[in-house]
Amino acid sequence: MSASSIRFMMCAPDHYDVDYVINPWMEGNIHKSSRDRAVEQWQKLYSILTENATVDLIQPQQGVPDLVFTANAGLVLEKTAVLSRFFHKERQGEEPYFQQWFEENGFTVHVLPKDLPFEGAGDALLDREGRWLWAGYGFRSELDSHAYLAKWLDIEVLSLRLMDERFYHLDTCFCPLTDGYLLYYPPAFDSYSNRRIEMHVPSEKRIAVTELDAVNFACNAVNIDQLIVMNKASDALKERLGDAGFRIIETPLTEFLKAGGAAKCLTLRSTESVIHAHPVVEKTESRTIRLEGQLLDHGLINRALDLIVEGSGSFQVLNFNLGEQRQSPSLAEVKVTAPSHEVMETIMSQLIDMGAMGLPQEICDCLLEPATLKGVAPDDFYVTTIYPTEVR
Ligand code: ARG
Repeated sequence: MSASSIRFMMCAPDHYDVDYVINPWMEGNIHKSSRDRAVEQWQKLYSILTENATVDLIQPQQGVPDLVFTANAGLVLEKTAVLSRFFHKERQGEEPYFQQWFEENGFTVHVLPKDLPFEGAGDALLDREGRWLWAGYGFRSELDSHAYLAKWLDIEVLSLRLMDERFYHLDTCFCPLTDGYLLYYPPAFDSYSNRRIEMHVPSEKRIAVTELDAVNFACNAVNIDQLIVMNKASDALKERLGDAGFRIIETPLTEFLKAGGAAKCLTLRSTESVIHAHPVVEKTESRTIRLEGQLLDHGLINRALDLIVEGSGSFQVLNFNLGEQRQSPSLAEVKVTAPSHEVMETIMSQLIDMGAMGLPQEICDCLLEPATLKGVAPDDFYVTTIYPTEVR
């Protein structure tokens, strides 16, 4: 793709300000950013990008100061867009403006179910070779949204759990680069996610940044071919990126850091293409479990939910019936989602050890029959000693 056919969408900071606190960067910064300086910094970024790509603009709107962070408009792939569903009510008013922009610009827009937060290209980043989509969860986007992305965009989704509230969006600590390089801050992720990153990106292509570079939003960078545009980088990081063949442009974005965003957040790449070379191998999985007993008294429900989260999964409590008397049992139904089959198996086996019952799955790869007696198999049950047998 030639430079001029690469497009970005931006929004001028006419109404930008820090008006509320929805991430740790905004704390203590209400109305502390300078409008003039913000305009000047945004203009610089805009002119760097227009020299290297085409920039489309969305009309600024009063009352939605974070509209400047267009990375959160939605996720784009080819001519399809998945519209963001903001986690915080403070940003939900931006959704109709972004939806209108996508529609007017010829995108087919997919809208997620209500109450399923997903914050667009802030939390979902395409591998620059187009092989898969990296998607973050833990703060703003729900893991369950990833299954929709995989379906609507027909792409393999690699889910990554964010652990550090300073890096609440994937693009604050993770930046896929040209030629399969990756710029990222490993401590922002849980250990399963780090393993997953290491399995997909060879060590010579992984460029891990220090905490100092991370808090200067070095990973919140715009990458156009060999060019990387960012707020600030240490000399060591510039050297490392230079060795990998990249040219760095630093452009100060301090006024936007006060709202928790920098270069990448202020842009949405609207030309993204996919190479369908990779079959979808890893998928998020969901199962429903039932827990019964003295759930509150024995802290069982807390332990079960903690175990799901610590095991890299996420949950939704579908039903909770508290027993009427202290000694009467409670009943909970919980939907468990995991980023892969392997993680689901680990979580499920721990939940079953705790006494949870897995409810029949919607999509089932085995036929269930009630047992007539203990230890008795159904009539047509076929047992073989030739093939390895697994018992679930
Ligand atoms: N104040 C905004 C928020 O907290 C900043 C968004 C930054 N965007 C990003 N893609 N990281 O939602």
